[in-house]
Amino acid sequence: MSDRPSVWVSRPTFDDVIARLAPHCEVDVEPEERKFAPAELAAKLAACDAAIVGLKEHIGAAELAGAKRLRIVANLAVGYDNLDLAALSAAGIAASNTADVLNESVADYAWALLLGAARRMGAAERWLRAGQWHATEFKGWLGTDVRGRTLGILGMGRIGQAIARRAQGFGMPVLYHNRTRLPEATERECRARHVDKDTLLRESDCLVLVLPLTPETRHAIGAAELARMKPSAVLVNVARGGIVDDAALAAALREGRLAAAGLDVFEGEPKVHPELLTLDNVLLSPHIASATTDTRRAMTAVAVDNVLAFFGHGPHAGHPPN
Ligand code: DGY
Repeated sequence: MSDRPSVWVSRPTFDDVIARLAPHCEVDVEPEERKFAPAELAAKLAACDAAIVGLKEHIGAAELAGAKRLRIVANLAVGYDNLDLAALSAAGIAASNTADVLNESVADYAWALLLGAARRMGAAERWLRAGQWHATEFKGWLGTDVRGRTLGILGMGRIGQAIARRAQGFGMPVLYHNRTRLPEATERECRARHVDKDTLLRESDCLVLVLPLTPETRHAIGAAELARMKPSAVLVNVARGGIVDDAALAAALREGRLAAAGLDVFEGEPKVHPELLTLDNVLLSPHIASATTDTRRAMTAVAVDNVLAFFGHGPHAGHPPN
């Protein structure tokens, strides 16, 4: 048996990037992307020294029970609600994420969803593909302009700041709410004003959610919050599904209490609340905000570098959650 650390990679990524592990580690890459049953995941984790995993791998005390060799879990995501950090830390296992490298792609995608939802692009495309375009109507498919309107950002980390910077091109004043207020210089650079959550809900014409999912942020947007928003507002979620109460959101969209929504993430994904699937004023996508070739390569590189650094082969690449 080799004394080099063995690394399990739970899905195919970018072979040339993963190959950087080869001089120092034994590498086992899963040949296809799939969801592992908890016992199967536990067996995989028990057989390696390092694991490069993604959001489908939920790792807690049960999955770690037999993982006596495991020293580090490198998550292929900036969010790490799939990892039980307390259980990892109790087992003396390090964890890392892929902060920063996806900020710009996710910010672009948040804008794509915002503009797409405001201009009804999903429904219009479905209508065209269904062969229903027989004549162009002057008052058909009227959407909402976002330019000059107020952009609200709930969760003002690095992705929120990247979203805010883009608002300058649309002449949109930016309000944000965050647990901790940004330094003044950052607020100036983002041209963003800190407000309490209630003001954010009441004054935003477009509200983008970029919060991590924690027990405190679960259903941060539920029926009560939606009731405080303008009926003309557009809501975008590129964070995590559990942050929004999808049933309450579907009801608000159906009853015209919210104009539109653009959603990349869902409670219980890959299942989507059935009512959201029936509504024309919501633009839906399958959790792909960071999915560009460059960004997914960069995320893979961060995970690889973190594993290499952990075993003493090079500087640490990312911000570890623990
Ligand atoms: C993340 O990095 O947390 C994204 O949601 C996954 O692409």
